[in-house]
Amino acid sequence: MIIVTGASGFIGSAVCRALESRGDRVLRIGRGADADLQWPAIGSGFAADAVALIGTARAVVHLAGATISERWTATHKRALRESRVNLTDALARAVGAAPRPPALISGSAVGIYGDRRDEWLTEASAPGTDFLGTLARDWEAATLPASQAGARVVLMRTGVVFGRGGGMLGKLKLPFSLGLGARLGSGRQWLSWIALEDAVQFVLRAIDDAAMSGAYNLCAPGPVTNAEFTDAFARVLHRRALVATPAFVLRAAFGEMADGVLLASQRVRPARLIETGFPFRFPDAAGALRHAVAA
Ligand SMILES: NC(=O)c1ccc[n+]([C@@H]2O[C@H](COP(=O)([O-])OP(=O)(O)OC[C@H]3O[C@@H](n4cnc5c(N)ncnc54)[C@H](OP(=O)(O)O)[C@@H]3O)[C@@H](O)[C@H]2O)c1
Repeated sequence: MIIVTGASGFIGSAVCRALESRGDRVLRIGRGADADLQWPAIGSGFAADAVALIGTARAVVHLAGATISERWTATHKRALRESRVNLTDALARAVGAAPRPPALISGSAVGIYGDRRDEWLTEASAPGTDFLGTLARDWEAATLPASQAGARVVLMRTGVVFGRGGGMLGKLKLPFSLGLGARLGSGRQWLSWIALEDAVQFVLRAIDDAAMSGAYNLCAPGPVTNAEFTDAFARVLHRRALVATPAFVLRAAFGEMADGVLLASQRVRPARLIETGFPFRFPDAAGALRHAVAA
């Protein structure tokens, strides 16, 4: 049995489909009525019977978290932190309590590196010190109760996921289709991305391969600048992109999130995936975008 959190989400639903189609039984932890197991209240752990159930899983894939792509009000910042740090801690403690702990495959993001302009970033690069960098560092550290108890922990430092029906492309498809797509600010910021299919294959591999542990940059080997992305996505949709949305407009509309996400630059190399010969199905952005639009 494989446990999945965030199973109703963009990545989680694709992971559940892939697991079920290869014959794995999936148990979903979430907030909705369709979840098999509910999260505990923030600040408390899972009840004893839930801990026992979690301990029987082969692996736990943890993809839950409040969205980063909306205005970061004080309330939303609290939700971002609680849904990542507190829930990861509760899950890691349950995993760590098992006599034979399941593997924990836990979400993180390339946002851990902060805004780093043109610097190439690998798994060995230091985290950023901005809000997202600190949040992602604490999110990863919350898995420690599992690794300290002997569980195999894989951290997925995920780039922007290109796929159909959700994520960034889900939000941008309509404006780009209407010819309203535009680069953001200077457009020189780097976007590290991965195709949804490759992200799902990574999760399956991380569940099965007992040799995998620690942090992995989960992105394709060819990051693109925001300007390159904008042109490529407009071309795939047979539209032209507008020149640019100025940074001050983004800051007025989205506040701190504009600098933290839309204008931030992460030029990430998936060094560990390259080292181990991960078979990327979509190594280049234009191909991944074409597939996401056509799929
Ligand atoms: N998509 C990307 O491009 C991308 C890039 C980098 C990192 N990531 C990370 O990968 C993970 C999955 O991404 P996704 O795109 O699949 O996200 P998503 O579609 O927004 O789904 C996330 C899931 O998390 C749960 N959730 C939402 N708000 C929550 C809250 N306040 N408390 C507890 N659970 C909450 C929901 O599941 P239930 O309603 O079932 O509880 C939701 O379906 C996230 O942690 C995200 O930060 C995603």
